[in-house]
Formats: sequence, structure tokens, C-alpha cells
Amino acid sequence: MNISSAVFKCSSQKVSQIPGDGLPEFAFIGRSNVGKSSLINMLTGRPALAKVSGTPGKTRLVNHFLVNGQWYLVDLPGYGYARVSKDQREGFSKLITGYICKSPDLYFLFVLVDSRLEPQKIDMQFITFLGENGIPFGIVFTKTDKLTPGKLTSNVEAYKKKLLESWEELPPVFLTSSEKKQGREEILDFIGMCLAE
Ligand code: GTP
Ligand code: MG
Repeated sequence: MNISSAVFKCSSQKVSQIPGDGLPEFAFIGRSNVGKSSLINMLTGRPALAKVSGTPGKTRLVNHFLVNGQWYLVDLPGYGYARVSKDQREGFSKLITGYICKSPDLYFLFVLVDSRLEPQKIDMQFITFLGENGIPFGIVFTKTDKLTPGKLTSNVEAYKKKLLESWEELPPVFLTSSEKKQGREEILDFIGMCLAE
């Protein structure tokens, strides 16, 4: 898919503030610092669209970016960041769960996981929550430039094995590096396919 335009639409601190204009939403979520905002910038080819930071907890609001005037990329706050309030730390923040369960236009959720790490408990809990709520999702491995191809393959295989302990089928899986622009076409083509359905 070609990206002809990508513009910031709005930031929402409550679910009631999201656009809700019927345009399909493709959202990105994962632990704080996993690379959600960087991925959005890489996909759109706009390096400064979403705010990126080495400090976890940068994205606090639900940010909508309108792409090609037709659909939204949604940058969600990270979960599992220890320095946010206790309320937000326990489970997933109300903003995240509220958005995921209540947005009528959420089409697909990309769950980002760091390709260097073994499956993290909080990600597994989150994926279980998605299953319980029937939310369509895929797994995006991030920062693949930070490990060797051999280690990447073994980590991805270990992750799939872990998922198959509780799921009958694997979700779509994407390997990405925002640094090396890896996985861009795969994700954009996947979104294009969803939009064409
Ligand atoms: P929060 O908004 O805080 O939840 O973080 P986020 O998930 O949006 O992460 P962000 O995109 O801000 O990136 C966090 C850090 O990881 C930054 O220092 C990025 O430069 C770095 N980073 C993100 N993606 C990649 C990647 O593909 N490769 C490498 N090497 N670094 C990356
Ligand atoms: Mg962010």
C-alpha cells in the first residue's frame, strides 16, 4: 500500500473523545518503550509523526493519525510501565481497556513485543484479555536489528510455541525493525488486505 498522506488527527484522554467517525482503526500496543511510536513513524515514512523517546511512558494518550484520508493508525499508551500511578499499573489502564473494548471502529490490534526477550508475563496476560474479549490481533516483533538472525529465529519460535500452549491457531506474526525499515510492506499490505475486505 502506498501512503500518500499521514496526519495527526487528535489525542484522547477518554474513550468518549476518540473520533468515532466510522473510519477503520489499526492500533498499536505493547509494553512501554517496545517501539510503538517508532513503528508508526516507520510505517508512514514520517519520522516525526509520533513522539519517540528513550524514556518509557512517553505516549500517555490515545493518538489518532489519519492515513490517506481513509483509515487511522492509533498509537496507544504503553502498559507495564512501573513509574505511572498504582492505579494504572495494576492490570491495564482504563484508557487502554476502554478503548480496546469500546471503540466501534477498532479493526485490528498489533501487539508489539521486543524480539530480544522471552515471552513476558504481562504480554501473555494482555493477549489472554484480547482472547476473552474477541479482539482480532497480531504479534509484531520489534527491534530485530538488535539481535542476530539465529537468535531472532529461536526467540520467535519460542514465542509461537508459548502461544500455542493456549491458542489453537497462531495469530498473524510480523518481524520489524524501525531502524532498518524491516516489516513495513508486510504490515501495510496486511492493512490493505483488511481494508479491501
Ligand atoms: P512509550 O510511548 O513510552 O510506551 O514507548 P513506545 O513503545 O512508543 O517506544 P518508542 O517508539 O518511543 O521507542 C522507544 C525507544 O526504542 C527509542 O529510544 C527508540 O529509538 C528505540 N527503538 C524503537 N524501535 C526501534 C528499532 O526498531 N530498533 C532500534 N534499535 N531501536 C528502536
Ligand atoms: Mg510511544
